[in-house]
Amino acid sequence: MSLKHSYSLIAPFYDVFLEAVTRAPRRKSLTSLLPNVPQDVFINGVGTGLDLPHLPQQHRYVGLDLTPGMLRRSLRRRDGLHFRAVQGNAERLPFADESFDAAILHLILAVVPDPAHCLAETARVLRPGGSILVFDKFLRQGERGLWKRAMNPLLRRVATRLDVVFEELLGAVPTLQLISDEPTLAAGWFRLIRLRKG
Ligand SMILES: C[S@@+](CC[C@H](N)C(=O)[O-])C[C@H]1O[C@@H](n2cnc3c(N)ncnc32)[C@H](O)[C@@H]1O
Repeated sequence: MSLKHSYSLIAPFYDVFLEAVTRAPRRKSLTSLLPNVPQDVFINGVGTGLDLPHLPQQHRYVGLDLTPGMLRRSLRRRDGLHFRAVQGNAERLPFADESFDAAILHLILAVVPDPAHCLAETARVLRPGGSILVFDKFLRQGERGLWKRAMNPLLRRVATRLDVVFEELLGAVPTLQLISDEPTLAAGWFRLIRLRKG
Protein backbone atom coordinates (compact mmCIF):
# COMPACT_ATOMS: atom_id res chain seq x y z
CA MET A 1 0.00 0.00 0.00
CA SER A 2 1.38 3.47 -0.87
CA LEU A 3 1.36 6.36 1.62
CA LYS A 4 -1.05 8.20 -0.67
CA HIS A 5 -3.46 5.29 -0.45
CA SER A 6 -3.16 4.85 3.31
CA TYR A 7 -3.55 8.59 4.02
CA SER A 8 -6.66 8.59 1.82
CA LEU A 9 -8.09 5.99 4.20
CA ILE A 10 -6.80 7.79 7.31
CA ALA A 11 -8.05 11.26 6.24
CA PRO A 12 -11.60 11.08 7.71
CA PHE A 13 -10.22 9.99 11.13
CA TYR A 14 -6.96 11.95 11.26
CA ASP A 15 -8.26 14.92 13.24
CA VAL A 16 -9.96 12.74 15.86
CA PHE A 17 -6.60 11.27 16.86
CA LEU A 18 -4.23 14.17 16.22
CA GLU A 19 -6.03 17.47 16.73
CA ALA A 20 -6.20 17.71 20.53
CA VAL A 21 -2.92 16.02 21.33
CA THR A 22 -0.85 18.17 18.96
CA ARG A 23 -2.59 21.52 19.58
CA ALA A 24 -0.19 22.94 22.19
CA PRO A 25 3.08 22.14 20.39
CA ARG A 26 1.67 23.43 17.09
CA ARG A 27 0.69 26.68 18.72
CA LYS A 28 4.11 27.01 20.31
CA SER A 29 5.91 26.28 17.04
CA LEU A 30 3.82 28.68 14.97
CA THR A 31 2.54 31.65 16.86
CA SER A 32 5.74 32.98 18.39
CA LEU A 33 8.10 32.10 15.59
CA LEU A 34 6.66 33.61 12.44
CA PRO A 35 7.58 37.30 12.01
CA ASN A 36 5.13 40.21 11.96
CA VAL A 37 5.90 41.46 8.46
CA PRO A 38 3.91 39.69 5.68
CA GLN A 39 5.83 36.78 4.19
CA ASP A 40 5.46 33.83 1.81
CA VAL A 41 5.15 30.73 3.99
CA PHE A 42 5.31 27.15 2.71
CA ILE A 43 3.56 24.34 4.62
CA ASN A 44 5.07 21.08 3.42
CA GLY A 45 2.74 18.08 3.96
CA VAL A 46 -0.11 20.33 5.14
CA GLY A 47 -2.44 17.36 5.70
CA THR A 48 -5.91 18.30 6.96
CA GLY A 49 -4.67 21.78 7.87
CA LEU A 50 -4.40 21.41 11.64
CA ASP A 51 -1.76 24.16 11.60
CA LEU A 52 -4.00 26.69 9.87
CA PRO A 53 -6.01 27.89 12.91
CA HIS A 54 -2.72 28.80 14.62
CA LEU A 55 -1.33 30.85 11.76
CA PRO A 56 -1.20 34.66 11.79
CA GLN A 57 -3.36 36.29 9.11
CA GLN A 58 -0.81 38.62 7.56
CA HIS A 59 1.20 36.01 5.62
CA ARG A 60 0.57 34.27 2.27
CA TYR A 61 0.49 30.49 2.68
CA VAL A 62 0.99 27.62 0.24
CA GLY A 63 0.18 24.13 1.57
CA LEU A 64 1.36 21.06 -0.35
CA ASP A 65 0.29 17.47 0.16
CA LEU A 66 0.43 14.19 -1.77
CA THR A 67 -3.05 13.04 -0.76
CA PRO A 68 -6.10 14.81 -2.26
CA GLY A 69 -8.36 13.67 0.61
CA MET A 70 -6.08 15.33 3.19
CA LEU A 71 -5.58 18.46 1.09
CA ARG A 72 -9.34 18.92 0.55
CA ARG A 73 -9.84 18.97 4.31
CA SER A 74 -7.20 21.68 4.70
CA LEU A 75 -9.30 24.00 2.54
CA ARG A 76 -12.11 23.85 5.10
CA ARG A 77 -9.75 25.36 7.65
CA ARG A 78 -8.42 28.31 5.67
CA ASP A 79 -11.01 30.66 7.21
CA GLY A 80 -9.84 34.09 6.04
CA LEU A 81 -6.21 33.07 5.52
CA HIS A 82 -4.48 33.76 2.21
CA PHE A 83 -4.01 30.01 1.61
CA ARG A 84 -3.41 28.03 -1.59
CA ALA A 85 -3.46 24.21 -1.64
CA VAL A 86 -1.17 22.36 -4.07
CA GLN A 87 -1.08 18.63 -4.68
CA GLY A 88 2.49 17.41 -5.01
CA ASN A 89 5.40 15.45 -3.63
CA ALA A 90 7.39 16.85 -0.70
CA GLU A 91 10.52 15.25 -2.17
CA ARG A 92 10.14 16.97 -5.59
CA LEU A 93 8.65 20.37 -4.92
CA PRO A 94 6.96 22.12 -7.87
CA PHE A 95 8.41 25.52 -6.89
CA ALA A 96 11.37 27.58 -8.07
CA ASP A 97 14.45 28.06 -5.87
CA GLU A 98 14.05 30.71 -3.14
CA SER A 99 10.26 31.08 -3.49
CA PHE A 100 9.42 31.33 0.24
CA ASP A 101 10.50 33.24 3.36
CA ALA A 102 9.61 30.51 5.85
CA ALA A 103 8.60 26.84 5.82
CA ILE A 104 6.66 24.61 8.18
CA LEU A 105 7.55 20.93 8.44
CA HIS A 106 5.08 19.52 10.93
CA LEU A 107 4.81 15.72 11.03
CA ILE A 108 6.17 15.26 7.51
CA LEU A 109 9.92 14.58 7.84
CA ALA A 110 9.23 11.34 9.68
CA VAL A 111 6.61 10.33 7.10
CA VAL A 112 8.26 10.61 3.68
CA PRO A 113 10.52 7.80 2.41
CA ASP A 114 13.58 10.08 2.02
CA PRO A 115 13.46 12.74 4.77
CA ALA A 116 16.92 14.17 3.98
CA HIS A 117 15.76 14.84 0.44
CA CYS A 118 12.54 16.41 1.73
CA LEU A 119 14.57 18.70 4.01
CA ALA A 120 16.95 19.60 1.16
CA GLU A 121 14.02 20.38 -1.16
CA THR A 122 12.46 22.59 1.51
CA ALA A 123 15.79 24.42 1.94
CA ARG A 124 16.04 24.86 -1.83
CA VAL A 125 12.72 26.71 -2.08
CA LEU A 126 13.55 28.91 0.92
CA ARG A 127 15.17 32.34 0.55
CA PRO A 128 18.48 32.91 2.35
CA GLY A 129 17.83 33.92 5.96
CA GLY A 130 14.50 32.04 5.95
CA SER A 131 13.36 29.82 8.82
CA ILE A 132 12.11 26.23 8.89
CA LEU A 133 9.88 25.18 11.78
CA VAL A 134 9.95 21.45 12.48
CA PHE A 135 7.62 19.52 14.80
CA ASP A 136 8.14 15.78 14.61
CA LYS A 137 9.34 12.61 16.32
CA PHE A 138 12.96 11.58 15.99
CA LEU A 139 15.27 8.97 17.41
CA ARG A 140 18.12 10.43 19.43
CA GLN A 141 21.60 9.82 18.02
CA GLY A 142 22.78 6.50 19.41
CA GLU A 143 19.31 5.58 20.74
CA ARG A 144 18.67 1.87 20.32
CA GLY A 145 14.90 2.37 20.05
CA LEU A 146 14.27 -1.35 19.82
CA TRP A 147 10.46 -1.34 19.62
CA LYS A 148 10.48 1.68 17.29
CA ARG A 149 12.89 -0.01 14.91
CA ALA A 150 10.90 -3.25 15.14
CA MET A 151 7.61 -1.52 14.24
CA ASN A 152 9.20 0.62 11.54
CA PRO A 153 9.07 -1.77 8.53
CA LEU A 154 5.27 -1.99 8.84
CA LEU A 155 4.41 1.53 9.95
CA ARG A 156 6.62 3.32 7.43
CA ARG A 157 4.51 1.89 4.61
CA VAL A 158 1.15 2.98 5.99
CA ALA A 159 1.63 6.07 8.17
CA THR A 160 5.00 7.10 9.56
CA ARG A 161 8.62 6.17 10.02
CA LEU A 162 9.94 5.58 13.54
CA ASP A 163 13.65 5.44 12.71
CA VAL A 164 14.51 8.98 11.60
CA VAL A 165 17.51 10.60 13.33
CA PHE A 166 17.22 14.36 12.91
CA GLU A 167 20.96 15.03 13.15
CA GLU A 168 21.54 12.78 10.13
CA LEU A 169 19.10 14.84 8.07
CA LEU A 170 20.63 18.13 9.13
CA GLY A 171 24.11 16.84 8.32
CA ALA A 172 22.94 16.16 4.77
CA VAL A 173 21.80 19.77 4.17
CA PRO A 174 24.78 22.07 4.80
CA THR A 175 22.87 25.28 3.94
CA LEU A 176 20.81 24.89 7.15
CA GLN A 177 21.84 25.93 10.65
CA LEU A 178 20.23 24.73 13.87
CA ILE A 179 18.73 27.65 15.84
CA SER A 180 16.83 25.79 18.56
CA ASP A 181 15.77 22.27 19.48
CA GLU A 182 13.46 21.53 22.40
CA PRO A 183 11.63 18.44 23.58
CA THR A 184 7.85 18.41 23.50
CA LEU A 185 5.41 15.44 23.53
CA ALA A 186 6.08 11.87 24.71
CA ALA A 187 9.07 12.64 26.94
CA GLY A 188 10.94 14.37 24.14
CA TRP A 189 10.34 11.80 21.42
CA PHE A 190 8.62 14.69 19.62
CA ARG A 191 10.72 17.86 19.25
CA LEU A 192 10.24 21.47 18.20
CA ILE A 193 13.18 22.48 16.04
CA ARG A 194 13.95 25.78 14.34
CA LEU A 195 16.42 26.01 11.44
CA ARG A 196 17.73 28.91 9.40
CA LYS A 197 19.02 28.91 5.85
CA GLY A 198 22.42 30.64 5.68
C1 LIG B 1 1.18 12.80 9.64
S1 LIG B 1 0.41 13.74 8.40
C2 LIG B 1 0.87 15.39 8.88
C3 LIG B 1 -0.08 16.41 8.36
C4 LIG B 1 0.11 17.82 8.92
N1 LIG B 1 1.40 18.38 8.58
C5 LIG B 1 -0.06 17.84 10.41
O1 LIG B 1 0.82 18.38 11.10
O2 LIG B 1 -1.10 17.37 10.91
C6 LIG B 1 1.48 13.42 7.03
C7 LIG B 1 1.00 14.05 5.74
O3 LIG B 1 2.03 13.86 4.76
C8 LIG B 1 1.41 13.59 3.53
N2 LIG B 1 2.43 12.94 2.69
C9 LIG B 1 2.91 11.69 2.74
N3 LIG B 1 3.87 11.51 1.83
C10 LIG B 1 4.00 12.70 1.19
C11 LIG B 1 4.83 13.16 0.13
N4 LIG B 1 5.74 12.36 -0.45
N5 LIG B 1 4.69 14.43 -0.28
C12 LIG B 1 3.77 15.25 0.27
N6 LIG B 1 2.96 14.87 1.28
C13 LIG B 1 3.08 13.62 1.73
C14 LIG B 1 0.22 12.73 3.86
O4 LIG B 1 -0.73 12.76 2.83
C15 LIG B 1 -0.24 13.42 5.15
O5 LIG B 1 -1.19 14.42 4.85
